Amino acid sequence: MKYLENCRIVSQEEISPGIFDMNLQTADIAGICRPGQFVMVYPQDGKRILPRPISICGADPESRTLRLVYRVTGPNTGTGEFSGYVSGDMIRISGPMGNGFDMDISGDETVLIAGGGIGIPPMLFTARNLNCKKVIVLGYRSDTFLAGEFGQNGDVFIATEDGSCGTPGNVLDAIRENGLKADRVYACGPKPMLRALASWAEANGIPCYISLEERMACGIGACLSCVCGSRETDAHTNVRNKRVCKDGPVFLSTEVEL
Ligand SMILES: Cc1cc2nc3c(=O)[nH]c(=O)nc-3n(C[C@H](O)[C@H](O)[C@H](O)COP(=O)(O)OP(=O)(O)OC[C@H]3O[C@@H](n4cnc5c(N)ncnc54)[C@H](O)[C@@H]3O)c2cc1C
Ligand code: FES
Repeated sequence: MKYLENCRIVSQEEISPGIFDMNLQTADIAGICRPGQFVMVYPQDGKRILPRPISICGADPESRTLRLVYRVTGPNTGTGEFSGYVSGDMIRISGPMGNGFDMDISGDETVLIAGGGIGIPPMLFTARNLNCKKVIVLGYRSDTFLAGEFGQNGDVFIATEDGSCGTPGNVLDAIRENGLKADRVYACGPKPMLRALASWAEANGIPCYISLEERMACGIGACLSCVCGSRETDAHTNVRNKRVCKDGPVFLSTEVEL
């Protein structure tokens, strides 16, 4: 079930330069969404027709508040518009969209949760809701936003490109430096990170589930603007394609072309 809702902004804060943390009062979406799903957020400026996909960073099913953490991509953009909203303002969203991560994991399994850059917010929602052993690896350029909130959910390893915190380098450098092992991988982040993780997981015989980001328009599987290449022929389009909005955004890494 998907909902189109006008939500009141409960709070909004800039938690790192250009990164905003927005909490919304929803009617239903926060009560039914799963980690790895996203919402479509509608700009109010009439020049921007298309909604913007933003992953769910947190949801409280009791109070029905939904948390979105997003990066402003530049001036005169939809995300720039969102960053100007203050508590009390209204915003239209639809969702929850997409499949999300499989949360039905045996307590004996260890999941390596990996997030890179603005791919980190959905992994916080995932880490908080997975009931199994967790190893968390976060990759940043420099500023380690949200890292402190992962602490209660497992052992956290950080990599920064400028070497200011944790392992100098990327997520894979932190995995190798700390000799990390797992039974499966859940990840969201830039494509080069996902590619590197997928080949590390394949070399170690571990299933690797990745959340992809493609440019989107409709968000409901109709326009095909978000397709990525797949290994198998897709039943909907009859070509080797997957719709990231509808079939994903989470895929087994061996299903898709990275
Ligand atoms: C499933 C999914 C989850 C995402 N989760 C987050 C998140 O949690 N936090 C976050 O900061 N960003 C996230 N993104 C990226 C975010 O959607 C884009 O940064 C945003 O749409 C850019 O819009 P804009 O108005 O700032 O830029 P503009 O350049 O004005 O956007 C123009 C158009 O291109 C689309 N577009 C531009 N970049 C992207 C992109 N990378 N992915 C999809 N569409 C894009 C916009 O939606 C819009 O329709 C996610 C993307 C996807 C597909
Ligand atoms: S955004 Fe239209 S099919 Fe995915």
